[in-house]
Amino acid sequence: MKIKLLKDYEELSSLVANIVETQIKEQPLSKLVLPTGSTPLGLYDELVKRELDWSLVIAFNLDEYIMNIDHPYSYHSYMRKNLFDRINIYPDNCHFPFRPTLSFEDKMNVIKGIDLCILGIGSNGHIAFNEPGSAFDSRTRVVDLTEQTIKDNSKYFDSIDDVPKQAITMGLGTIMESKKIILMANGKHKLNILKVAMNGEVTEDVPASILQKHNDVEVFYCD
Ligand code: PGA
Repeated sequence: MKIKLLKDYEELSSLVANIVETQIKEQPLSKLVLPTGSTPLGLYDELVKRELDWSLVIAFNLDEYIMNIDHPYSYHSYMRKNLFDRINIYPDNCHFPFRPTLSFEDKMNVIKGIDLCILGIGSNGHIAFNEPGSAFDSRTRVVDLTEQTIKDNSKYFDSIDDVPKQAITMGLGTIMESKKIILMANGKHKLNILKVAMNGEVTEDVPASILQKHNDVEVFYCD
């Protein structure tokens, strides 16, 4: 699979913002899947600047920790702070995986499924919180986070002991049902896993490798 190398983080953010902008303008009632983490922060800033009309957009987040959703480090808080409170999306149209997880999946698929899914990639090849070994046909579910992910995400918490050990994540099968998928990766530390995932063996040991089986994926990288 082709990995498109971009000049810098600004170009990465602006190019993915172009794709989101086109999607929303061509189809105001779009269903989007959105990521958290450090990678999409520039994308969200760029989208805010463009003053798009989000009034009909329905957003689904990829994952959420098992924790109080009002905690400042929850993904609900992250999304409010970095995107939702800065655009005209309706709070009722912002969804996060919840239990029962099958009801969440029903909600995502009402009418005709997800139009555009934006992903990051973890240093162990995870997408959303589908850690290595996740089944390719997995659905939204509660998962245990690996030591590596807990370590990687501890930078957002006061101490590693505060990082939740579990999360609810969309499954790999769920993500693959999106009509279009964009994978964003930023930083030299992501290049190796990105190459393995996009051009190596398609294996559940490298969850992102499942994307090789999707017919509309674009992969963008900057170092
Ligand atoms: P990051 O996380 O954007 O903070 O690197 C990506 C991920 O773990 O999916």
